[in-house]
Amino acid sequence: MLVAIGSDHGGFRLKEEIKLFLNENGIAFRDFGTNSTESVDYPDVSRAVAQAVSGGQYDRGIIVCGTGVGVSIAANKVKGIRAALCHDVYSAEMSRAHNNANVLTMGERVIGFGLARAIVAKWMSTEFEGGRHARRVAMIDALVE
Ligand code: RB5
Repeated sequence: MLVAIGSDHGGFRLKEEIKLFLNENGIAFRDFGTNSTESVDYPDVSRAVAQAVSGGQYDRGIIVCGTGVGVSIAANKVKGIRAALCHDVYSAEMSRAHNNANVLTMGERVIGFGLARAIVAKWMSTEFEGGRHARRVAMIDALVE
């Protein structure tokens, strides 16, 4: 399991906390930035993480901004990416089990670090159930306008 992780300035501190969590749990990752709370444009880092996952070099992506919304919208523009904005543990679990989400997004200005850790733990450990959900995920992947 190899994780691509990134944030803008609004999500920098939570990204650093998630890196601690990944290290504590022996999960390998690469940090795609940003590296401080200095203002950057979130679509840039979101695209970098999403393309790293869609290209197959990384198994999953985690992206943080102030709300999680902007990076989620941007990541979902990348072919093959199913980014899920999750601020509760149940949604995080279902985004893996039913939606086969390959990117998790969160907002540093929305949730606390403890909840974010619990969300990442559940999201990382939940497998896709397949079956009828595989058909629906294939329908999502086929949605191109
Ligand atoms: C940055 O101020 C903020 O807009 C960004 O972190 C994110 O919340 C966008 O969706």
